[in-house]
Amino acid sequence: MPRSLRGLLPFLMVPIGLAVLAGGVARARAASDAPSVSITKPATASPCARCHVEAKTQPLTQMGRALELPGSNPTVTSHPRLALQKAGYSYLVETKGGKTTYSVTDGTNTIALPVLWSLGAGNQTWVLEYNGKLYESLVSYYLAIDGLDITTGDESLKPKTLQEAMGRAIDDREKKACFGCHSTNSVTEAQVNLEHLHPGVECAHCHTGTAEHLADTLRGKEGATPPALSKLSSEDMSNFCGQCHRTWEVVVRGPWRGEVNVRFQPYRLANSRCFDGADARISCVACHDPHLPLNHDKAYYDTKCLACHAASAPSAMAVAQPAPIANGAKVCPVAKADCVSCHMPRVNMLGGHLTFTDHQIRIVKPGSPYPN
Ligand code: HEC
Ligand code: HEC
Ligand code: HEC
Ligand code: HEC
Ligand code: HEC
Ligand code: HEC
Ligand code: HEC
Repeated sequence: MPRSLRGLLPFLMVPIGLAVLAGGVARARAASDAPSVSITKPATASPCARCHVEAKTQPLTQMGRALELPGSNPTVTSHPRLALQKAGYSYLVETKGGKTTYSVTDGTNTIALPVLWSLGAGNQTWVLEYNGKLYESLVSYYLAIDGLDITTGDESLKPKTLQEAMGRAIDDREKKACFGCHSTNSVTEAQVNLEHLHPGVECAHCHTGTAEHLADTLRGKEGATPPALSKLSSEDMSNFCGQCHRTWEVVVRGPWRGEVNVRFQPYRLANSRCFDGADARISCVACHDPHLPLNHDKAYYDTKCLACHAASAPSAMAVAQPAPIANGAKVCPVAKADCVSCHMPRVNMLGGHLTFTDHQIRIVKPGSPYPN
């Protein structure tokens, strides 16, 4: 596929988590901003919120809450007792007084461990420590069933010992990647440092130079402002978000074929006929403001599609010119609203408990196979 601009901008090549973090940037969790979830951690205003509205909402998004520490995890607080029996083992995830214990028993012996890191703001997997090593819990919480089941990706594991039934060991490489995507400041100078970790994806994970910027602005000095991410092309934005959501290149070279790749939005979007690496109207941020919760209202996306697919919309060529001159992309012969309900179908990943929105925007013919 000829995609000329596939290279990353040099400043985007900062490894995940390497962006310098403003020391002690606390996260705004004011009650007035809070969605339906209850936050148990005391609300402290982000110092960025004094000047930027983004800081009032971003910490409350799923990305802002991609990792939770004990005492501030609404999922387990609202589900103090989660239980499952599977393949001869019984699992119990119990929360009391802000502390969560994950235990598994074969009826004779039991392993019970404190939950130190909870990954995922909705669906959730726990990272545990056992004999000095880290493990991904073999069972996870799923919203779709409001309960526990085997962790996605671990379905084929057949535990033969209690330890294997407890979790899957994660090596240093995976540990770095896992915490690198779900938290901020956990990977510094290519080393994992879980003591300095800030839970979730914070400002400094995406914006570089924020520590200096904060210090400068608070001293009333002009200083250098963080590079404006709004200047990225749609191609570079896909690669930027793809650091964690996976890039087109990573997926093409990887093993994921079939429905399992529906979760990699940058890859799916690039395969759509709508995608143009230079057209801002199809950039990730044309449809998603990373500082706001995901919008579930289908009508909200209509204007995004109609920016190109209306008789009056300018063409991609025209957008690059000072004055729009030509007509845009084709107009739908079937409907005038709720575009995404037909052209961005929801796909259930491998018949499991996870459903994603297919970003390969297209005409979906009934019964046709999933396009890879
Ligand atoms: C005292 C006020 C103040 C504080 C506090 C502050 N900023 Fe800024 N920030 C500014 C000003 C002023 C600009 C320049 C705006 C412009 O050029 O339009 C700016 C620019 C930025 C930009 C670049 C925006 C763009 O697209 O050009 C980012 C990103 C940013 N700030 C992030 C942060 C973060 C993250 C924090 C907290 C760690 C923070 N700021 C704290 C005042 C502040
Ligand atoms: C540092 C890693 C990282 C980067 C960079 C990143 N994301 Fe995410 N994003 C995540 C993680 C982790 C989640 C899952 C959060 C969860 O559910 O726990 C997520 C979830 C989301 C969601 C779903 C939210 C929901 O409510 O279901 C959207 C939308 C999203 N990201 C958009 C973006 C966009 C757009 C960009 C680029 C501007 C981006 N992300 C960059 C890590 C990242
Ligand atoms: C390359 C970045 C990356 C790595 C590495 C990573 N995640 Fe994620 N994770 C994400 C993103 C992005 C999402 C948001 C869902 C999506 O769009 O795929 C997510 C979602 C999740 C979810 C929500 C349920 C789901 O599957 O969507 C859980 C739970 C989770 N991750 C746990 C983990 C654990 C545990 C590890 C490490 C053992 C890990 N993740 C490693 C980026 C990453
Ligand atoms: C997941 C990545 C991500 C995180 C986390 C994030 N931002 Fe941003 N931010 C972006 C992107 C991408 C843009 C450009 C958006 C656009 O072009 O529409 C942006 C734009 C901005 C801007 C400029 C707004 C403008 O008008 O262009 C400011 C200011 C800002 N962010 C502040 C913050 C602050 C403060 C935080 C933390 C509370 C934060 N951001 C967290 C990705 C992120
Ligand atoms: C033309 C609009 C559009 C563009 C462009 C777009 N998205 Fe989405 N995205 C959507 C819609 C619609 C949903 C589903 C919203 C809902 O829950 O109803 C969605 C959902 C998501 C989710 C939640 C998980 C899922 O798949 O349902 C993530 C994560 C996400 N988008 C990331 C991205 C990233 C990263 C990019 C850029 C590569 C991107 N999106 C570009 C429209 C868009
Ligand atoms: C950047 C402009 C742009 C945006 C935004 C955009 N598209 Fe497209 N789309 C195109 C172009 C260009 C084509 C290919 C030529 C044509 O059909 O006009 C296309 C093709 C299509 C096709 C036909 C695909 C095929 O396989 O034949 C559908 C359906 C479609 N778009 C729906 C949508 C929907 C729904 C949205 C919003 C979620 C959307 N588009 C957003 C530019 C865009
Ligand atoms: C009820 C389902 C449905 C909805 C809602 C819908 N479409 Fe379509 N759309 C279709 C079908 C089916 C086709 C294929 C028609 C055909 O080939 O005869 C199509 C075709 C298209 C095409 C290709 C046109 C061509 O001439 O090749 C585009 C572009 C498109 N739709 C965009 C949109 C946009 C933008 C919206 C929202 C304003 C939208 N659609 C809403 C079902 C839908």
